[in-house]
Amino acid sequence: MSEVPQAKGDSPPGSCPIEPAFRVPVTAPCLLMIFGASGDLTARKLVPALFDLHREGLLPGPFAVLGVSRTPMTDASFRDRLRTAAAEFGAGPFDAAAWDAFAPMIFYHPADVSDPGAFGPLSTRASVLCETSAIPGNVVFYAAVAPKSYAPLVRAIASAGLADPSGAMPGYRRIIIEKPFGEDLESARSLAADVTAVFRESQVYRIDHYLGKETVQNMLVFRFANGIFEPLWNRNYIEHVQITVAESIGVEGRGDYYEGTGAVRDMVQNHLLQLLALVAMEPPVSLSADDVRDEKRKVLHAIEPTPLGELGRACVRGQYTAGSSAGKPVPGYRAEKHVAPGSLAETFAAFRFTIDNWRWGGVPFYLRTGKRMGRALSEIAIRFRPAPTLLFGDTACGQMASNWLVINVSPDEGIYLRFSAKAPGPEVCIRPVEFAFNYHETFGARVPSPYSRLLLDAMHGDATLFPRMDSVEAAWALLDPFLSRWKADPGADLWMYEAGSDGPREADSLFEGNTEGWRSR
Ligand SMILES: NC(=O)c1ccc[n+]([C@@H]2O[C@H](COP(=O)([O-])OP(=O)(O)OC[C@H]3O[C@@H](n4cnc5c(N)ncnc54)[C@H](OP(=O)(O)O)[C@@H]3O)[C@@H](O)[C@H]2O)c1
Repeated sequence: MSEVPQAKGDSPPGSCPIEPAFRVPVTAPCLLMIFGASGDLTARKLVPALFDLHREGLLPGPFAVLGVSRTPMTDASFRDRLRTAAAEFGAGPFDAAAWDAFAPMIFYHPADVSDPGAFGPLSTRASVLCETSAIPGNVVFYAAVAPKSYAPLVRAIASAGLADPSGAMPGYRRIIIEKPFGEDLESARSLAADVTAVFRESQVYRIDHYLGKETVQNMLVFRFANGIFEPLWNRNYIEHVQITVAESIGVEGRGDYYEGTGAVRDMVQNHLLQLLALVAMEPPVSLSADDVRDEKRKVLHAIEPTPLGELGRACVRGQYTAGSSAGKPVPGYRAEKHVAPGSLAETFAAFRFTIDNWRWGGVPFYLRTGKRMGRALSEIAIRFRPAPTLLFGDTACGQMASNWLVINVSPDEGIYLRFSAKAPGPEVCIRPVEFAFNYHETFGARVPSPYSRLLLDAMHGDATLFPRMDSVEAAWALLDPFLSRWKADPGADLWMYEAGSDGPREADSLFEGNTEGWRSR
């Protein structure tokens, strides 16, 4: 499908019909302080995203990165390390000349975030850097350390006088906090109390990188900039919704993190429930951060809490055993590095939820995520109710297919609609066919990394795509009864599945035999 030419009068003269790959450049100078600078996230995601922004000319001028972690490094050795990371994890061929222009903006300071005494020298280093780089006090802190270090980090920032909750200092101070935000409702509230003792809510950006993906942002445009879909977007026409985030990779050496987290905390509490909120929310009054986030909160609040007696029927967990991936044998989860041999951590989780409001009453939402699945795929699939009469039900070669609208989040970002059509010939033979839209084919532009978009938004001060604390709490409140059940009985609802499969077969039971079950393409 190609981009449709604009009809005369569709847009003001001179306006651009295609969104640029990124937003406009940030104009206000900024110092980005990354805590956890020697870690995986910085190397794999943050630095490639920043380098991309630099190449697109979208970083503010002046701009500087100050990396902080305990590993002793100089500015030069830190830059060398990041150069290797940018070459390995960046999009497209590595541009050495562009890197040479970018590298002088990168600095490093060794410090332990649990040692408030280390923040005096760090604060001095940041001030000197701002002065020599002509940055008038705008600072974004990025908490890329382990979740247990978030609270000590914000306390140390406060005790060094760097947080500026009263807004009295020149420029802005904002903090980006990585997921997971808490490990249950109580710990999330306790962390929120630690954070808001130091920062105002408007300074806090809880990152969920799924919300920075183009297709996810397109949900709002798809639903609310088109007149044809929204009238169907309710219980009268939609039978159920499936949200799948499947990964073909295993835990990739992060077994120690996964052991304490599992798929429910790592994926469902944030990415999957945030996707559900975007699919199910009401139209916001405006696109302001708070209006969008108000609607997301409302829909998460409207999800029916699962009654205690139903917990075992509303969720299936799984853990992968040895199998294959891309044709090669792979070990089971329990044989991965830093994983206990008898571990009961889940690497797969599937849930059924219903939303108790007028739009969605009685429509099940099925959520599923897993590692070492047969195929890496993230999609939102909406199944429509069948036609009310089976006019073609007994044709000789009829094959009535259900109507699906599928939003591909990754790979192959795009949208397709499946419907039935008559195959050519004298008989009425019905075949499923598709209307398909693919981002890359239509717009040609490469899809920007979600971290680029979200880093830029934080520098712009636009929090629309960052979950607010009320929706974080609502998500934990939904999952807490399940987490308590598994705390009391760690093996409950846990089934084994072979690496390279679609997850445990038991996950089909969530459909209670009503439909075709999970989609497999
Ligand atoms: N990796 C990903 O793809 C990914 C994706 C989504 C979210 N996240 C989240 O991002 C955060 C970081 O993840 P990661 O994978 O990068 O972890 P990681 O590779 O273990 O890195 C942790 C970083 O924190 C630093 N650190 C640890 N203790 C410290 C201390 N006391 N003071 C200063 N620095 C300290 C470590 O450096 P030193 O040992 O040198 O101090 C290292 O730079 C986690 O919260 C994770 O949940 C990661």
